[in-house]
Amino acid sequence: MDINQVDVFAKEIIFEAGRRIRESFSYDIEIETKSNANDLVTNIDRETETFFIEKIKAFNPTHRILGEEGMGEKVENLDGVVWIIDPIDGTMNFVKQHRHFMITIGIYVDGIGKIGYIFDVMREDLFYAIAGVGAWYNDSPMRKLQPLKIEEAVIGINANWVTPNDRINHEKVIDLVRTVRGTRSYGSAAMEIAFVVSGKLDAYISMRLAPWDIGGGVIIANEVGAIATNFNGEGFDFLTTDTFLIANPSIHQLILEKYVEEKK
Ligand code: IPD
Ligand code: CA
Ligand code: CA
Repeated sequence: MDINQVDVFAKEIIFEAGRRIRESFSYDIEIETKSNANDLVTNIDRETETFFIEKIKAFNPTHRILGEEGMGEKVENLDGVVWIIDPIDGTMNFVKQHRHFMITIGIYVDGIGKIGYIFDVMREDLFYAIAGVGAWYNDSPMRKLQPLKIEEAVIGINANWVTPNDRINHEKVIDLVRTVRGTRSYGSAAMEIAFVVSGKLDAYISMRLAPWDIGGGVIIANEVGAIATNFNGEGFDFLTTDTFLIANPSIHQLILEKYVEEKK
């Protein structure tokens, strides 16, 4: 695979998909629910994924696409070139706020992350990385993350996890929230990952993310020194959902050891 050629092509279709999504606000968006009443999907999520599939197949028919909306073929392994795509990450923000939603794509070759993108559709901001080459925010190179103390950290976390729940020991999460400088919750995993890799957040925790939420972001993380693992400190298989912690390298292990106790 010619990485630079694929990168130029990927950016073209991401920008074009972004234009189409912004234009969709001028006509009616059809909203449906999926696994539960708060799990939303729209015709624009599906149309955007179909747009990517058609463009990528025309570019190279051997490339496969693992997309959230399942509009293409079934992908059960990462052999060859696989594009892991979330056409709209943050659908609730898309529907309700008309901002704070991302297109995110990770391009994998035999399971190894090669190019990762997170595109803020309304701001037209692109965070991306080419493995082993570097990471950029639009045209500016991104810097390696600088160490900091946990007391100085601003972390992304959903408020649910400081209330009693069956996934995580909420007392420890309360301790974490009291220790850090501040917390934020944006409603788009890809956006929160983009903020960690660019130093706008210092960590982001989620109890359950899918391959398409993280496939692009994890590649960018590697280039800036952010550490992304599940709650056991392991990497991801990009075929199943998993727990997720991405953090500045100086606080990743501390957060896992002291503040994250999963209920199994
Ligand atoms: C969701 C968002 C949300 C995260 C959920 C994801 P979607 O993605 O990233 O922030 O908490 O776990 O499913 O459904 O909007 O693509
Ligand atoms: Ca998502
Ligand atoms: Ca989505």
